[in-house]
Amino acid sequence: MDLSIEKIRQDALGELETAPDAPAVQELSTRYLGRKGFVTRFLRNISRLPQADRAEAGKSGNQVKRQLEEAFERKLADLEAAGPSADAIDVSLPGRQPPVGSVHPITSISEQICGIFARMGFEVVEGPEVESDYYNFEALNIPKDHPARDMQDTFYIDDNVVLRTHTSPVQIRVMEQRKPPVRVVAPGKVYRCDSDLTHTPMFHQVEGLLVDRNISFGDLKGVLTSFVHEMFDEQTTLRFRPSFFPFTEPSAEVDILCVMCRGKGCRVCSHTGWLEILGSGMVHPALYENVGYDAGVYTGFAFGMGVERIAMLKYGIDDIRKFFENDDRFLRQFQA
Ligand code: DAH
Repeated sequence: MDLSIEKIRQDALGELETAPDAPAVQELSTRYLGRKGFVTRFLRNISRLPQADRAEAGKSGNQVKRQLEEAFERKLADLEAAGPSADAIDVSLPGRQPPVGSVHPITSISEQICGIFARMGFEVVEGPEVESDYYNFEALNIPKDHPARDMQDTFYIDDNVVLRTHTSPVQIRVMEQRKPPVRVVAPGKVYRCDSDLTHTPMFHQVEGLLVDRNISFGDLKGVLTSFVHEMFDEQTTLRFRPSFFPFTEPSAEVDILCVMCRGKGCRVCSHTGWLEILGSGMVHPALYENVGYDAGVYTGFAFGMGVERIAMLKYGIDDIRKFFENDDRFLRQFQA
């Protein structure tokens, strides 16, 4: 056998012996048997040999070619059968953690508020965010020229359609549809043309309404006191302060003892020791007239609170806009 083809054969088999994986075998195959491979070149050069040597060289060249083809083939099959080598996959490498979302703090607080009232027997209901002037104002005893309209910086769609400025219109929609007893809470988005450290054009409220026979201001105080004790803690004192809303009479705003300084006076409570958390009152008889309830038989109370405000007090957040900037680092703090 020609010495050079024997050398090529030995080299190829030697290298194949230590080829660690399929790509390495492929590389060898190209280098020896490919178009410009050693074996191919050897066969191509046979025509330049003396006539007498050509037959022998051709025979051994083709033998080596076949032998190598088979050897590469077999090595590939062996590698496949053995599966990936132990160091091809590092089984101790920690898995990739997909990012996990969480409930937005405003959704979470809104759900907590509704949950507390649900356990007191209130049903959760919803109403439209694009509301008629009638439900948002008129039926709530706020006529067109009423000064109370100025307090609510309204987004008007047209003369008779608004983005609701509060969740109170849900009271009217519920009373129109049901006879007493009524016991509902209505969470949702509301809109006012207002924007600063404590106001955003869209925010969230939870409205409450209870109407039945013999409901008194005492029931209002009892229900709201239970709510505050659950939402904050048992030590949280309440104060009912006389106020005015067109849809309640009498009306009261509820303050709680400052959760930061416990009444001593601090920046959060503007050194008053108290924080205003909601509006409330006994349902005004004019509303019963609008929905066809007998004001001589039924009484009830209503209340409304801002979810962002409760969240800010509970978590000690001083800028409402943080809730809506969607900075992952801020939101992640509330992950359950
Ligand atoms: N709707 C009032 C507001 O947005 C809040 C409110 C006050 C709701 C008294 C009530 C209530 O149901 O009785 O400012």
